[in-house]
Formats: sequence, C-alpha cells, structure tokens
Amino acid sequence: MTELLIETPVREPQRIRGLEMPWNRVMGSTEAPARAARALGPWHPQEFMAECVETIPEAGGMMTLVFRRCDGAPLAFRAGQYVNIAFPVNGEEHEPVDRSYSLSSSPTEPWTFSVTVKRDPGGLVSPWVHDNVRPGTVLDMLGPVGAFHLPDADRRARYLFLAAGAGITPIMSMLRTIHSLPGTANVVVLYHGAEAGGFAFHRELAYIASVDPRVKVFYALGDRGRPEEWEGFSGRLSSAMIEEVAPDANGRQVYACGPEGYLNTATELLKKVGVDDTSIYMEFFSGDRKTLLEYQAEIALASDIAEEIAEEIADSAEDYYESQPSAFGLYEPGYDAEGTLKASGLPLEIVEPEAPSSEAGKGTSEADSAAPSPDASSFDTVGTGSLTLSFMRTGINVRIDPEEHILGAAQRAGVRIGANCKEGMCGSCKVVKLSGEVEMNHQGGIRKREIDAGKFLPCCSTAQTDLVIDA
Ligand code: FES
Repeated sequence: MTELLIETPVREPQRIRGLEMPWNRVMGSTEAPARAARALGPWHPQEFMAECVETIPEAGGMMTLVFRRCDGAPLAFRAGQYVNIAFPVNGEEHEPVDRSYSLSSSPTEPWTFSVTVKRDPGGLVSPWVHDNVRPGTVLDMLGPVGAFHLPDADRRARYLFLAAGAGITPIMSMLRTIHSLPGTANVVVLYHGAEAGGFAFHRELAYIASVDPRVKVFYALGDRGRPEEWEGFSGRLSSAMIEEVAPDANGRQVYACGPEGYLNTATELLKKVGVDDTSIYMEFFSGDRKTLLEYQAEIALASDIAEEIAEEIADSAEDYYESQPSAFGLYEPGYDAEGTLKASGLPLEIVEPEAPSSEAGKGTSEADSAAPSPDASSFDTVGTGSLTLSFMRTGINVRIDPEEHILGAAQRAGVRIGANCKEGMCGSCKVVKLSGEVEMNHQGGIRKREIDAGKFLPCCSTAQTDLVIDA
C-alpha cells in the first residue's frame, strides 16, 4: 500500500487536438441523429417547466439553484447561454415576473442544470428567489437563449475568460464544460471580486486548476484595499494585469462577462494589448437601456421560435410517441386485439354509439353542442362508467366513473397523452378541455392562466360531467 503514496513523476495526458462539443458531429451530420443524440436535442429555445432539486449557497451572496426539467428531457444548451424564468413573486394569482439568468452548469451534464443568482437586496426578484425557491419549487422557463457561448468545435481552443462579480456564472459553465471534455485547450481565467471572501465557486475553481493542467485561474480584488494575506492581484482590470496572466492574449478568444463599466474598460484594454475585435465576446450583466432592449428582443425571438417548435412537435407527436419504448407503458393501448383490457383482464366493452338522448345528462348535451366536428357521437365507445370522455383527435369515447383519474382511463383506451410524474407536478400530461367540468388536485404542474385557458392535467383530475377533450 505504501508505494502508492511515493511520489512518482506523472506524465501529461495524451489528448486529441482542440475542443469539440459532444453534439457537434450530430449537428454537422446529414444523417438522422442517433437516438441518444436525439434525446439531447433539439438545440433551440423551448418553453418548459423545471423543478428545483437543490439549492447551494455560494460565496458573494450568490445561490446556485439546480433544476431538472419536469418532462424528464435533458436541457440542451451551449456553455454561456441563459434561460428566461417566470417567477411568481406576487403570488400564483398574478402575472409572474420574468428574469434571465445565465446557466452555470455544464451542458455535458444535461439531465440537471443550474443557474446562480446573486441577491440584490434592493431588487424585486433575486431576494424572492433566495427566500422562496426551494427543492420542489416548479417554475416556467424559456430557453436556451443567447449568442455568448463557446464554439461547437475549436482546433486551437485558447481562451482568456474575464469575469467580474456575478459575471462568473456563464464563465463557470464554460470552464466546467472544458474541464469535462477531452481535447487540448489552454484556458486562463481572470476573476475580479469586490472582497476576498466573495468569490463564488472558488473551491471548485481551485480544484479544477489543481487537477487540469489546461486551466489557470487568477483572482483580483478591486481597488477598495486588500487584506494582508491576499495573494492575488489588486486593483481594477488593467492592460498590465492582462499581459501578466496572458502574455499571448492576442492569440486567444476572449470571453468577458460582468457589469457594463467593467466590460467597457475590458474592450479598451483588450484593444490595447492587440486583441482583435472579432476575438472578443461579451455578456453584459447590468446593461444600459439599449442592452436591456436587445435582451428583450432576444427573448421575444426565442419565444417565437419556441412556439413554432412546439407546433412542429405537436404535428409530429404521433411519430414521436410511436417511437417511444413500450416499456414506458405510457402510450400503449391498454387493450389487445381481442378486446381484453390488460389492466383488469376484463373484456372490453364496445358500446354502440348513442344518439344524444333524453337519457343523457346536461353535461353531455353541453359537450355535444361545444364539440367541434367530427361528431363525437359517431366515435366508438370503450370502457365502463357513468360518464363519457370524448377524445376528439383520437376519435374515441371512453366511459369512466367520477372517482377514476382521467389519464389512466384514457391511456388504457389507447389515447396518446404523454405523462411523467402522474401526480400533477410535471405538467407533461397537460391537455385542453373543450367542454365539461373536472376536479383537479395538482401540485404546481399547471398555472392559473393555463387553467383559465381551458387546460387541465388528466393525471390528477376526475370528471364531474361528461367531457370533450382535445387529445
Ligand atoms: S403526468 Fe405530471 S402533471 Fe400529469
């Protein structure tokens, strides 16, 4: 055992040339992407719900919130991008307040993702986030958004990362990404903070720098004085400081993030040390009006794209659901060719379509009058129960008892409704109710404005009347 502890010279790792993101070949491929790669796509903004799974206090008044998507999908993004999050700061009954936060995690670990939020005591949203977002909190998100990110492939991969204060968050995502990938790279980080104990992620930064020979990290305190034991730089960003940490700055791609004043200074200094404009990428963390308007335009565009993509996904949903492994058991008809209900082993009851009659209750007549063509009364009817669910796209009527959850009955009858948590949390089973009444006991998987728009979660809802459903 003891010889393990004897220090022997360690050889440098052998690495392939340059950096390449894992998804790069899929994107360049003319072939359809392989299944695993498809799971990690698409690489465009989407609207989705995410559940907080962990909160991690960080130095400098920051807090990292770790999320996972409620629909179980990974979040595909590029290191440096951000998400726009709707926070119900004024209560669930009021319009949420949107804010954008850079992703601080690496896209190479896409099953969870994090944002890191600095508490601004005078702000509206960040104190609410620190005080209210906890494991289990579900929030509406839009993303990924933003052109400030690492390239998908870079044969040279020489970077200078400049970060000030909370500007470290997208830089952290970039650094974590590079550290997680093979490939030759050369990264210098220069991180400015206002006080010695206020550098978020400093433990992880020290760890990465100690085990990854491709990475060097330097710290600098501003000009408000420094403690005696401080070993980093002091003073504001200067060209001498840049030249000291990266004498070859003009041969590097520079990514800089921080407050506006810091970035304006950085632009001047980088020019002075010979860095070409085309090698400089910046993300403003507090901007003037023009920057804020640019952000708003970016988010509006992302939202339009998300909407288009959602429509495309809805159009191809059938193919998608058919390609899902049947082991999930979510989309399979619950009856076989002989008409036996798999769950109960009972024969499937095929009920001849009935004309709306005097027997039918108020719900049915309302449903029928509201139902769009085709006419639900011509659909086959399956199952038993006192109420009827008409699924307009599937073209089937399902009989159900008032105490039975709608999702189970629908899926047994082969109606394709995606589902995940089955507890009203994730929102993935959300469908539109065209008419009728349901009783819903959800756990945050749907927002009030969606309910007002006629949506409901069939996994946690029971029918109160006959229903007509857009599924
Ligand atoms: S399956 Fe998650 S909310 Fe319905």
